Amino acid sequence: MKEYLWWQTGVVYQIYPRSFKDTTGNGVGDLAGVIEQLDYLTETLDVDAIWLSPFYPSPMADFGYDVSDYTDIHPLFGDLAIFDELVAQAHRRDLHIIVDLVPNHSSDQHPWFLESRSSRDNLKRDWYVWADAKPSSLQRRHSDGAPDGAPPNNWLSVFGGPAWEWDEATGQYYLHSFLKEQPDLNWRNPAVKAAMFDVVRFWLERGVDGFRIDVAHYIMKDPDMRDNPPNPNAQGSLLRRPREYDTLLHLHDKGHPDVHGVFREFRQLLDGYSAERPRFSVGEIHIFDWQKWASYYGEELDELHMPFNFSLMNVAWQARDIRQVVDELEAAIPPGAWPNYVLGNHDHTRIVARYGRAQARVAAMLLLTLRGTPTLYYGDEVGMNDVPIPPELEQDPFGLREPGFGRDSNRTPMQWSPAPNAGFSAPNVRELWLPLASDYEEFNVERQLAEPRSILDLYRRLLRYRKSSPALQWGGYQPVDGAPDACYVFLRHAQGRGRILVVLNFSAEEQRVVLPALGEGTIAVSTHLDREGAVSLDELVLREDEGVIIELSD
Ligand code: NOJ
Repeated sequence: MKEYLWWQTGVVYQIYPRSFKDTTGNGVGDLAGVIEQLDYLTETLDVDAIWLSPFYPSPMADFGYDVSDYTDIHPLFGDLAIFDELVAQAHRRDLHIIVDLVPNHSSDQHPWFLESRSSRDNLKRDWYVWADAKPSSLQRRHSDGAPDGAPPNNWLSVFGGPAWEWDEATGQYYLHSFLKEQPDLNWRNPAVKAAMFDVVRFWLERGVDGFRIDVAHYIMKDPDMRDNPPNPNAQGSLLRRPREYDTLLHLHDKGHPDVHGVFREFRQLLDGYSAERPRFSVGEIHIFDWQKWASYYGEELDELHMPFNFSLMNVAWQARDIRQVVDELEAAIPPGAWPNYVLGNHDHTRIVARYGRAQARVAAMLLLTLRGTPTLYYGDEVGMNDVPIPPELEQDPFGLREPGFGRDSNRTPMQWSPAPNAGFSAPNVRELWLPLASDYEEFNVERQLAEPRSILDLYRRLLRYRKSSPALQWGGYQPVDGAPDACYVFLRHAQGRGRILVVLNFSAEEQRVVLPALGEGTIAVSTHLDREGAVSLDELVLREDEGVIIELSD
């Protein structure tokens, strides 16, 4: 029988280190806090891997996604010895460690950029993307040192405004796809690639099992730096209202086909370390054209192990729409490539805020029963909600630049207990880096562990069940027709190792599902956690907001 690897059968849990567990009393989470919670991760939840958002030295302009040293730990989070301890302790428990690699941009305080901007003939000048101003029609010199002309092209920063920053001292613009404090590295320069691959080796040699690659498709842009064309259909998305950034089609500022060559080499590098034990990569790739998206697996499945699949977050929460994206995805995935799903992360509003508490349970069942690797976001398992952040406490640079787009609400401290500071920091700590949810006394790990049928209880049940079920871990997927509109029904089947029917009611009304051809089965899990046992598919009644996992005979 084919052997599946840990990142295929396993479940990944994302930790935003600032917000997971503070052991030093400064109101910010740290790596020692992650070590403290290893029991929770491996015993209470029993996940297989943790992905740690950046913990590197950083001025924190974008809370760590502006790295000023790729091979060290920010003192806020600990040091390399603590990191090594975390890896050792995690590995003893069979928990894999995935770190965040941020290759598209560094901090503007990184020594590479400080050198690069020091003069036009510095040896590292070409490590970043520098360009002359486009001469203005007036061709006049500004007395205040302002650029003699316009930015080199019309590219925009994801966080608002132009993607170009004028550097007065050297008289050129540099590119920043995100903040001006995050200059884009020039991946067309082989020295940059070599330096970043050394970073990858550094962490592989320290024992990490894989990388989550920040905005992976951004690293290669149009070499001619052509203007982006206007977007005739600037509607934003389900997650975001339209804004200036959406007025252009982002054809030239990211995703140039040359990106694939880089990921082929990157994969070879990882594979070189995989004889010892399999290493893994997942790219953050927000592309919703499935052919393009799937190209990041590589034509020979020789690039990323998987591009993150954000499709579920990008459709209406309705059975029909969800089924449609899953079916499209299943059709687009190249043979042999491994799918994955995600419903939340540090950039998006939380599941509870999006779908409500009742449907959050259906969401948990969907995520943990689809084919492929699920990634959970810390706190979703206890039903953490978005936390309203008063303007004077807002920290996220995105929200500060573009009101309404802040991501602080979904990055608030983990809710461990009903104690003051929710067990995130010691009770006497005066200030946490972000405010706690007002309902943390109800939604926290300690309380929910003692409460049968809590959402945490449901996540634990689903995780345990998934681990025991070959059909869920690696079986095939097949949608089932004939259910009411409000329900999404699919089969997962592992030849001879089990056949499972998942029935999800996306509505707040009772639904009758009549699928007599499927015969009889046994309910293994209901999202309400109050029923198990024999059931006939002649007529299955699902209560409002209920999902069930049913074992069918093979
Ligand atoms: C994507 C990350 O997930 C996000 O948090 C960050 O702000 C941008 N990339 C820039 O690194």
